[in-house]
Amino acid sequence: MAKKTRATFFCGSCGHEEPRWFGRCPSCQAWNTASEAPSAATATSAAGRRRRWTPAGAEAPAPRALASVEVAETPREVTGIPELDRVLGGGLVPGSLILVGGDPGIGKSTLVLQVARALSSREHKVLYVAGEESEEQVRMRAQRLGETPESLFILCETDLEAVIDAANAMRPDVLVADSIQTLSRSDLDGGPGSVTQVRECGLALLQFAKATRTVVFLIGHVTKEGAVAGPRVLEHMVDAVLYLEGERYHDARILRAAKNRFGSTEELGVFVMEEGGLREVANPSAAFLSGARESQAGTAVVASLEGSRPLLVEVQALVSSSFYGTPQRVTSGFDARRLAVLLAVLERRVGLKIGRHDVFVSVTGGITLEEPGTDLGVALAVASSFKNRPLKARTLAIGEVSLSGGVRRVRRLDLRLREAARLGFVRAGVPAVEADDSRGHSIEAVAVETLREAFDQLLDAPAEPPRGGTPAKTPEAARA
Ligand code: TYD
Ligand code: MG
Repeated sequence: MAKKTRATFFCGSCGHEEPRWFGRCPSCQAWNTASEAPSAATATSAAGRRRRWTPAGAEAPAPRALASVEVAETPREVTGIPELDRVLGGGLVPGSLILVGGDPGIGKSTLVLQVARALSSREHKVLYVAGEESEEQVRMRAQRLGETPESLFILCETDLEAVIDAANAMRPDVLVADSIQTLSRSDLDGGPGSVTQVRECGLALLQFAKATRTVVFLIGHVTKEGAVAGPRVLEHMVDAVLYLEGERYHDARILRAAKNRFGSTEELGVFVMEEGGLREVANPSAAFLSGARESQAGTAVVASLEGSRPLLVEVQALVSSSFYGTPQRVTSGFDARRLAVLLAVLERRVGLKIGRHDVFVSVTGGITLEEPGTDLGVALAVASSFKNRPLKARTLAIGEVSLSGGVRRVRRLDLRLREAARLGFVRAGVPAVEADDSRGHSIEAVAVETLREAFDQLLDAPAEPPRGGTPAKTPEAARA
């Protein structure tokens, strides 16, 4: 027993446990993240905790042969919000614990309240636990969203035991905790939102979800760096982590799964925040294109593949002479290191002397491009701005750029080409290795083997005589 009374510490960032206090986490190397786990006096045995957080009658699990486990055909419950269902992998699985994270004010409460409304209007009992807002405030938000169904219940409570008691009495199909940072157990040290509280409350709700097969949504605030102590330790225990992203001054909202035990983490849902809540964007490509028919120098369209869905997005680049010692490279929505690689390839393999120039790259709509198939488009946008030569009209570029300046194959080229054709594009630069697969679409496929070839074949003549900071007297400019 002596062993049990010893305190343990865990890292608030990654959840790693150590018997001693540590200044730097041995697992994730973060500094000052050690928190003391509840001492043995308050942390009851596993069985005791189980009894405590689950309704009477839920039996304790015993080992059994895996082969004897029947996989019941439990159809997933669709939420009524197709964009969310897509991200979840087809709907809600009973007994799952889902963490919805995001910056404050981004729309987490709105999204989950919309789910709660949609489910309760289809005869599901939903209990919405609000720790941050009053009943009136939640009611007001619900009114903005439309009619409030009868089987949607609200409980303003921050004490975890009271929440579990209420849930055990009511037995809802779906329980929402908004937010997990406001819940606390009175028998533990630390205020609401501390790592200990968030972890223990998360665990209690996990046991409740699994024992009663209730779907539990946890809402968690995350800072820009994703570094708030609580939600990180939660990521390990929940079944799915969804992040709602977007920029404060843009109304587009992207829902991504960072973890999903029941589906892919590549799918993405697109919403727009409006007066009446989050509206789904069924055709996001159209939303991320400016609609300009004539291309301008420095602008390119890329086809990113997000999960199973191609997404056409406009990228803008601006290259201008640098007046400071170190040229600036500023990106929004694109990885700055990836841009540095593309600039080096443009310099060495295409011969563009960009090294002494400032380069700015911005992706429209607040979206972040991570997929390598967008390389070629971004590189061409930069080259286009540098040379002041727009891309050919209604043309896009698809391909990954290698360090040798080659254009590599991409996943599902056919899907991207079909989407581009549907949106009125007439020409696409595609990796030469995939030229055969690109026939049969109502779009001209220009096979390019290298970035240099793409540069030669996809850019138009200079829009107007280059002025100001745009260099014109380089040998390439004379040749081009
Ligand atoms: P909220 O869901 O409260 O954000 P979070 O829970 O992530 O902190 O919503 C934040 C913003 O959304 C708020 O500034 C108001 C805006 N909003 C709308 O524009 N339309 C709506 O219908 C609702 C409910 C909110
Ligand atoms: Mg909220």
